[in-house]
Amino acid sequence: MAKRFYVTTPIYYVNSTPHVGHALTMMACDVEKRYRELRGEEACFLTGTDENGLKVLEAAEQAGEEPQAFVDRISRSFKDDADLLRLDYDIFNRTTDPHHTVASQRLFEILRDNGHIFEDTYKGWYDVSAETFVLESEVVDGKSPDGNPVKWVEEKNWFFRLSSFAEPLLKKIEEEPDWLQPEGRKNEVVAFIKQGLRDICISRSNPGWGIPVPGDESRVIYVWFEAVINYLAATGWPEKEAPNDLWPADVHWMAKEIFTRFHATLWPAMLMGAGLPLPKCVIAHGWFTFKSEKMSKSKGNATKPLDLIERFEEDGCSRDMAIDAVRWALIRAFPYETDTNFTSDEVERIYNVDLANDLGNGLNRTLSMAHKFVGGSIPDAEPEGEALESIKEAKEAFAKAVEEHRLHDAAEAALGPIRYLNKYIDRREPWTLNKNGVPALNNVMRSAILLIRTSEGLIRPIMPAAAAAIARQLGLEPISHWDQIGDPATAAGGTALSQPEPMYPRLQEKKATVEEKPKEQPKPKKEKKQPEPAKEIEFGDFMNVSLKVARIIEAEPIEGSKKLTKLQVTIGEEKRQILAGIKQHYEPEDLIGRQIVVVANLKPAKLMGHESQGMLLAADDVDGAPILLQPDREAPDGTSVH
Ligand code: MSP
Repeated sequence: MAKRFYVTTPIYYVNSTPHVGHALTMMACDVEKRYRELRGEEACFLTGTDENGLKVLEAAEQAGEEPQAFVDRISRSFKDDADLLRLDYDIFNRTTDPHHTVASQRLFEILRDNGHIFEDTYKGWYDVSAETFVLESEVVDGKSPDGNPVKWVEEKNWFFRLSSFAEPLLKKIEEEPDWLQPEGRKNEVVAFIKQGLRDICISRSNPGWGIPVPGDESRVIYVWFEAVINYLAATGWPEKEAPNDLWPADVHWMAKEIFTRFHATLWPAMLMGAGLPLPKCVIAHGWFTFKSEKMSKSKGNATKPLDLIERFEEDGCSRDMAIDAVRWALIRAFPYETDTNFTSDEVERIYNVDLANDLGNGLNRTLSMAHKFVGGSIPDAEPEGEALESIKEAKEAFAKAVEEHRLHDAAEAALGPIRYLNKYIDRREPWTLNKNGVPALNNVMRSAILLIRTSEGLIRPIMPAAAAAIARQLGLEPISHWDQIGDPATAAGGTALSQPEPMYPRLQEKKATVEEKPKEQPKPKKEKKQPEPAKEIEFGDFMNVSLKVARIIEAEPIEGSKKLTKLQVTIGEEKRQILAGIKQHYEPEDLIGRQIVVVANLKPAKLMGHESQGMLLAADDVDGAPILLQPDREAPDGTSVH
């Protein structure tokens, strides 16, 4: 059988419930799997739960449940979370599955037969929370280096001769520079091995929970020793010999805390000892942190994917779009080399900048213009060379980034054509081409549609539902193969376009929905002079004022001015510059993409040397700070306001 691309997450401990940290590693695997499938390869994504070990047993006891019932319940919650985010795993492996026992015991036997496992007495400290043995010298104030309490253990046990694998491991790392990634973490592994690898204790006295050592029911296999075997067991080994259609794994993904000691040393050493092929790439990402602490259930600082989904739904996203927004945020904020503070502010910023502004705006503007200028269908005209060039670059950058596992860079590349599109439209001004009857309008509009179509294809592994929604609005079948991406034939001239539908409405305000924020103290209200009542006017006078919906496409503070921000806005097809006294109250990046209401027929005026070609409408709060007026829902740019 042909080899399939095989990508894995760690199996999660069932002593706690899932959060965005777990979803993050699953997303990495999901994106890599979907990318391979888009390229026409067969791919398999493995995830699952780690259900043996003292830590799980203690958690079940604390919950007052039978261990099996407890692990069944928590394991299901991991599966449910994965399903909620449409994480398309193929195998959900559980270490309480009988087949996992068969595979673990078999590998134990092979290693023992090969002389890599021996019996001895273990005396020392054990960190139950991290399920690791700890050196005497590492224990400080009764705590392990991870800060967990330790227990004294003294028992006859089985040991794995890890020390004898130091040399072969170093050789492998040197010969295959991409085997361990990223570079910085690989260097940590090299330093760790060079410090000297100790033989490790790989059994514990049998607490009635776990996988018995073959031929020695008094002891169970150390949970880490059998947990890593799940990657191989899931391929059907030992019944299916390795190499097989899945093994060796193409990529083992995990976070940094379980990289050096377990995935980059112990596991490959076990495989070497058994004469089995090694995974092709082992890669660790950083952590999602909250206020600089690792996000985890036990610290009570963990964000749940569902909280984020509901936050987006509150502001008008459909469930499908909200799920994809969370998927997008996980990849955009991906802690590749460093850790990322994954706060709701950060998630909202990513959403507003990437999805509401760039994606939403690009699609909306292009479709509106196509309906207005080229009869609502894709013009049968050649796309322009510069657009084709940008498409080619984005596609290459995307492929390179995913194949090098830099998924945050892949997301950036995927949105590249849309970001390019927004600038391209501003520069090529289809409204001017239309007004002057310039034939290049057709080429520009075909290029614009093709740019969107390219991003549709590239975001597909990250946001499959959003990609399908874009294809629907373009009146086209979704991109289903990599080779179609960027091909003008997939956005054929004559295709009838649908009406634009807002996919990602801008989030209205920063809310403390996802994590608790301290309540702000209400500011003391200033005494304010009541304005004079406005004089009555005739209806005709009011009708003389042209109020229009506009969209801010650029914003920059005016240097030297305390109050003024310079805005570039589009009023339908027309572009204008407007100066507004909002500098102290709105950050430029929070303005871009936002719809506002403007007085469109105000005589231009110069303020601090800059021309203002209109005025935006805002209410004053109690302190006189502006509150921008914005349509209740997306309205086509340029719509009249009465
Ligand atoms: N059961 C072991 C793994 C055995 S694999 C053979 C384990 N389980 S765990 O439940 O603690 O999961 C750890 C993994 O969950 C991390 O390596 C990472 O993939 C993911 N994460 C959990 N919290 C995370 C963050 N706060 N940030 C990033 N990743 C997170 O260790």
